[in-house]
Amino acid sequence: MSKTGFIFDLDGVIVDTAKYHYLAWKKLANELGFEFTKEQNELFKGVSRKKCLEILLDIGNIKATQEQFDTWMVEKNEDYLEFIEKMDSSEILPDVPRVLKFLKERNIPMALGSASKNAKPILEKVKLLHYFDSIVDGNSVTKAKPDPEVFLMAAENLKVHPSACVVFEDAVAGIEAANIANMTSIGIGDESILSEAKFNFKDFTEMDADFLEGLLNESV
Ligand code: BG6
Ligand code: MG
Repeated sequence: MSKTGFIFDLDGVIVDTAKYHYLAWKKLANELGFEFTKEQNELFKGVSRKKCLEILLDIGNIKATQEQFDTWMVEKNEDYLEFIEKMDSSEILPDVPRVLKFLKERNIPMALGSASKNAKPILEKVKLLHYFDSIVDGNSVTKAKPDPEVFLMAAENLKVHPSACVVFEDAVAGIEAANIANMTSIGIGDESILSEAKFNFKDFTEMDADFLEGLLNESV
């Protein structure tokens, strides 16, 4: 079936914000007296802020009161916002604008499907907001990836059947969500981690026009 709706995750697909999420969580972990590694951070990709804090406290073996939990959620986000404050177009991942332009020129409906509550201001900062016909983010959904809600809502907003949608994702939870939604999942990043994806690319520089044409013309 030809693909007529394209859905992009944000963090780690469009912009390299995963490193800022990591730094903010690491700062909190260190304040609470334990280490937080880059390997552990893999578990945080695509996962909601609340769920991330739950995992972090598990790693540190820390029991929190509701009040402490809420305070740490706010603290992490304030630190994260400080890291991204000065973000600009230079932090767009390689060849993302080429792919967005390619699809836009062909009038292909495009949506953002992100777990982040900070998605819209980030797209504004890097000046890519205008490419998207719909933004579905952490403020719009009630169920986090791997639940397919975020992508199904995006497909509905684009008025495209889920099976005709393509999802670009860098997180295991996101690939799982796309597969459950019966969409074509494309892993961006490490193929050994994203092995459940239908197609894999290290980054967008490896995705040529022929592949994109193939998706549009049902030949891949
Ligand atoms: C996802 C990131 O896109 O958004 C996660 O991959 C992050 O690491 C989640 O926890 C929520 O982001 P935010 O900006 O709402 O804290
Ligand atoms: Mg991501």
